[in-house]
Amino acid sequence: MPERLTWTPDLTARSGARYRAIADALAGDIDSGRLPAGTRLPTHRALARALDVTVGTVTRAYGEAERRGLVEATVGRGTFVRAATPEAADWTRPGAPPTTDPDSALCLEDCGTENVAPQGQIDLSVNYPARAFLAGALQPGLVGLDADAGRLTALAGYQPSVGRPEHRAAGARWVARFGLDARARDIVPVHGTQGGLTAVLHALDRPGDLLLVEELTWPGVHYIARQHGIRLVTVASDAQGMRPDALAEAARRSGARTAYLVPTLHNPSNVTMPDARRDALIETARAENLTLVEDDIYGFLADSPPAPLAARDPDRAVYVTSLSKCVAPGLRVGFVKAPEWLVPRIAQAVAADTLMVSALLLEIAMKLIDVGHAQAAADAQRREAAARQQIARRLLPVREPEGAEASFHVWLQLPEGWRASSFTAEARARGVAVTSGTAFRADGGDPGAVRLCLSAVPDRAQLETGLGIIADLLERRPEAAMPMV
Ligand SMILES: Cc1ncc(COP(=O)(O)O)c(C=O)c1O
Repeated sequence: MPERLTWTPDLTARSGARYRAIADALAGDIDSGRLPAGTRLPTHRALARALDVTVGTVTRAYGEAERRGLVEATVGRGTFVRAATPEAADWTRPGAPPTTDPDSALCLEDCGTENVAPQGQIDLSVNYPARAFLAGALQPGLVGLDADAGRLTALAGYQPSVGRPEHRAAGARWVARFGLDARARDIVPVHGTQGGLTAVLHALDRPGDLLLVEELTWPGVHYIARQHGIRLVTVASDAQGMRPDALAEAARRSGARTAYLVPTLHNPSNVTMPDARRDALIETARAENLTLVEDDIYGFLADSPPAPLAARDPDRAVYVTSLSKCVAPGLRVGFVKAPEWLVPRIAQAVAADTLMVSALLLEIAMKLIDVGHAQAAADAQRREAAARQQIARRLLPVREPEGAEASFHVWLQLPEGWRASSFTAEARARGVAVTSGTAFRADGGDPGAVRLCLSAVPDRAQLETGLGIIADLLERRPEAAMPMV
């Protein structure tokens, strides 16, 4: 007796690869309510027969739908439509946000009070862009903002969560500078990289889902995961970044569908993945049916970095960046470039979170991007960062990876005997705030290193003073430096 099909997609108007057309039709039917949550989809064989395609095509289509979070497969039971992404209210978790000094970028930058520089300290703990440039970087974007009342009225209202077309187009022009071939419709404006990552992870993962991250990961992602009930699974790295074999193994073992990476000037390791590593990670993502979330916030500091993951496979990698480090963190403007199937869901996540990104901020960003001011600000930051790196390399025994000549920070391996937390405490006792390496590990383990940010202090002279204190501390044996108790 042939199986009675619970669903048959209409593929007549869909061109392109058959597996993708089936996955797209599935998405459309879920969206329209034709396929309610819990529906058991036809078996691979039955659907293949009905559509006159191979069983492999249906298997690939269901795999693609699983990657998009539309369905879940249970061995022996079949493939079922997942419940829709919860509404905003369901995402609101009890538990206060980190209680840090609101004036400190560390509220999100490092997710913990222990890493907030107290007043009067030389602050090497925050990856701030050079502050002296911030006002000058913003000013050209503010000029004439009030000149056209009609335009101002348009900007003053509510906007589509996916952004106004002209702001999306400005985002496409900005990401093109980093090697991405983007159209306005591929872009969703977001509130900084943090807002972008939050929206993307919200769109891809549900509470209880797993996210693959490197052992050392920027803590803002730990924070998103905690807030959204996403569990982190760590993946081993080497001198070229996340290891493809470890990614494949972790994906298979955990069943995770999403991985977060910082391929250029990783925070904190400063590694920039070479071409071959990027290609291998994309291959792994294809083989293991993963979506890669690529954070490129520091790409502008690298001298001709390899093409982003999202340029290598625009359907496998979601690209997230912002103007925070190159123009000003307070602008809170970032852009996500996503595959077509994900754009509406990211927009829904923005809607659930903040309805929309302020069009006023996006207007300023667009003006800065279009007349070249954003690029000029980025160039100024890069030049200053390179000068500060030279100071650090002169004063400290740092071994930074190739390509990190203009990074905002250094990752300082500590001499044997030092724990990251005790070194951090000792540095603070001497008036210098640094970030303990433990902040970058999801398990709070000790990587035996600290991060020193070079751009937050107001000038190079203060940087020299702070790094001099660190150099002096490195000369001491831990037990000699620690107070007797
Ligand atoms: C790797 C990384 N991603 C994201 C962010 C957050 O950036 P934004 O200010 O654009 O939200 C930071 C800030 O330090 C970062 O280092």
